[in-house]
Amino acid sequence: MKTLVVYYSRTGKTRFVAEKVASELKADIEEVVDLKSRSGRFGFLKAGYDATRGNETEIGETKKSPSDFDLIVVGTPVWNSRPASAISTYLKRNDFAGKKVAVFCTNEGMGEEKAVDRTKALISNGDLAGELVVSRVFENQEENESKISDWCNKLRSL
Ligand SMILES: Cc1cc2nc3c(=O)[nH]c(=O)nc-3n(C[C@H](O)[C@H](O)[C@H](O)COP(=O)(O)O)c2cc1C
Repeated sequence: MKTLVVYYSRTGKTRFVAEKVASELKADIEEVVDLKSRSGRFGFLKAGYDATRGNETEIGETKKSPSDFDLIVVGTPVWNSRPASAISTYLKRNDFAGKKVAVFCTNEGMGEEKAVDRTKALISNGDLAGELVVSRVFENQEENESKISDWCNKLRSL
């Protein structure tokens, strides 16, 4: 199954999970770049505001098309119980007709259910194939790595 992992990461936690998933599934990987600054206190506040409002952001041009893959794994940090703006923007701009789509999010332990549901709601036409929450990525790294491997085994057998 040809697989693409698409993710956004502000501080590296979602990137860590995305890279592990891509390596386990021998998948292509694409980082969605948010062209708005999300760093510093103002960037943090604006990130929460944009996510809560469902505002689109400006994203860098992506290189890979979901249409070339069978399974697309989408990874996002949780921002105020929502997907990050770069991922909601990416999902709104792509069509997943005829594709399997799996979603994972990373967070610190709050709002993950809503975030996963809200992320899934943005996937047009895709066949939802799985979801995973990874909380406190580096604090529980060993436990999280085995959870990610188990999830990848499930995805591999789709
Ligand atoms: C604007 C903003 C809002 C956030 N909201 C939540 C939240 O609702 N629940 C939570 O558990 N963590 C929240 N976080 C923490 C991140 O989801 C968490 O640290 C995540 O793993 C960061 O991923 P990254 O390093 O890939 O950016 C928030 C972080 C930011 C920047």
